[in-house]
Amino acid sequence: MFDLRRIAPATARNRDPILDVLRDVLPGSGTVLEIASGTGEHAVHFARGLPHLNWQPSDPDADARLSIAAWREAEAVPNLKPPLELDAAAPDWPVEHADAVVCINMIHISPWAATLGLMVGAGRLLASGATLVLYGPYHREGQATAPSNAAFDEDLRLRNPAWGLRLLEDVVREADGQGFDLDRVVEMPANNLTVVFRKR
Ligand SMILES: C[S@@+](CC[C@H](N)C(=O)[O-])C[C@H]1O[C@@H](n2cnc3c(N)ncnc32)[C@H](O)[C@@H]1O
Repeated sequence: MFDLRRIAPATARNRDPILDVLRDVLPGSGTVLEIASGTGEHAVHFARGLPHLNWQPSDPDADARLSIAAWREAEAVPNLKPPLELDAAAPDWPVEHADAVVCINMIHISPWAATLGLMVGAGRLLASGATLVLYGPYHREGQATAPSNAAFDEDLRLRNPAWGLRLLEDVVREADGQGFDLDRVVEMPANNLTVVFRKR
């Protein structure tokens, strides 16, 4: 049998530090919508680590969804749902309800329209008090970008001029415009940030 499970090497390094933050900021029950689930390794790990939550993975990429589905089948985590086809930039999301939204490593590897769509979609979906959790590398106003992130930014822009590290303050402004307050910014290993917003 052909194994459709993909592996992103960074996941093994970042999944536990991210899970530690998720334990603090996600609700005690309900459904978490993950945008841009990629391989699906995070979805498996977080669903297993947060058994009181239903984990709903999604990705617009068909091969990613095959990988997520293959991981789900292999690992058989009961609270992990089948992946949805969801483009954050689309005006309609195929989701009726979520109690939190998590988006890891998408904002810098997609056009800015995906971030704008993420804010609009999460703003429409989430109730007051619910969290939107982002993870990834950012530029920050008045702070030097770590050399590893500057090189990563350059590499991303060579691969696609519409990609690249975003200024955290621009992301915060767009989130604010869709009804989100910045709850906390957590410094993570390898110069990444977890950024937590809460719906007003
Ligand atoms: C670098 S991968 C990150 C995957 C996973 N979250 C991780 O950290 O390993 C970026 C993902 O963003 C997804 N993506 C790109 N544009 C998107 C969009 N407009 N809406 C939702 N996901 C998108 C890609 O399909 C890809 O799976």
